Amino acid sequence: MSPTFETKRLHIGVLTGGGDCPGLNPAIRAVVRRAESGGHRVTGILDGWAGLADPAATLTRPLDRSEVRGIQARGGTVLGSSRTNLLKRDGGLDAAEASIARLGLDALVVIGGDDTLSVAAGLAKRGAAVVAVPKTMDNDVWGTEGCLGFDTAANIVTEALDRIQTTTSSHHRVAVVEVMGRDAGWVAAWGGLAGGADAILVPESPIDSVAIDRLVDLVTRRRSYATGASVIVVSEGVQLPEALLNLSGDVPRDEFGHPRLDKIAVGDAIAAILEERTGLEVRCTRLGHLQRGGPPSAADRVLGARYGVAAVEALETGRWGVMVALRAGAIVEVPLAEVGGKNRPLDASYLRVFDALA
Ligand code: F6P
Repeated sequence: MSPTFETKRLHIGVLTGGGDCPGLNPAIRAVVRRAESGGHRVTGILDGWAGLADPAATLTRPLDRSEVRGIQARGGTVLGSSRTNLLKRDGGLDAAEASIARLGLDALVVIGGDDTLSVAAGLAKRGAAVVAVPKTMDNDVWGTEGCLGFDTAANIVTEALDRIQTTTSSHHRVAVVEVMGRDAGWVAAWGGLAGGADAILVPESPIDSVAIDRLVDLVTRRRSYATGASVIVVSEGVQLPEALLNLSGDVPRDEFGHPRLDKIAVGDAIAAILEERTGLEVRCTRLGHLQRGGPPSAADRVLGARYGVAAVEALETGRWGVMVALRAGAIVEVPLAEVGGKNRPLDASYLRVFDALA
């Protein structure tokens, strides 16, 4: 790959890595359409970094306008995805570079979260012309205020809470709703606030015995209110003392070292504590992958379109080694090397809103 592209017709590879989410397809479509109108051509790499590490380089698919027609309305990714960590595999980056050369790619658009982008940064450091697009329903990629997939997930949680609210109040119960988000509480905060949760527990605020006592008090106090019901949103990554968790054996991890949080089941643990301490009927619902499926929201489609166009524009003017990002409503570029190894926790101001509404 050459770093100077002015006036050159580029062969651009595009891949999606990490957990899928709504918004990936609108971004892929925008990359392809913008590339075509600039006279470039695009090859889709299948299954994220696994596709690029494949020695036969067969996990690819040429993409043109007709291939991406209508995909802005579809969830997931037409390219497939995986949590493959080339930085941990012997010769992983060498294999990717060999595939790039074999495929004759001039540049890569990498659509991913912090893990996928750490591999992209590794390749860029070795000279590859890479532009990154941030995605993850967790919304915690450092350097941007907007990740593809987050808006849709927050809407899905909101709608789920609207439904949980009615059944919970009919039965005067306590509902615990576990949502995704890994180390960040963005989905819990937005879904929980929009859905009228009575308490929102996020990883940014560790749960100790004082916090549990406050939760027990809140639920007990709400018994005397009109419906007697409470709805508690729990982010899957909240830190509970191990003694309160019902863990049997080691929790499996992915190639990036992240534990499978569905195996830890903090929602169930909190529901059990509340049931035991209050004597009330508590039900736990884990929204799981429902939060990542289905059509993208309008906001995710538009963000995907803006990111896809910006990524190709960055490449064709030789500004590679960057991530396109959202700051104060504008699309900007941030150096990819600065993105890795950090994440963007929930802003502390949200915790004050939770407290004010409790
Ligand atoms: O990173 C996005 C995410 O949806 C997290 O919120 C969640 O912990 C994880 O992926 C689930 O991953 P998987 O699809 O591998 O179960």
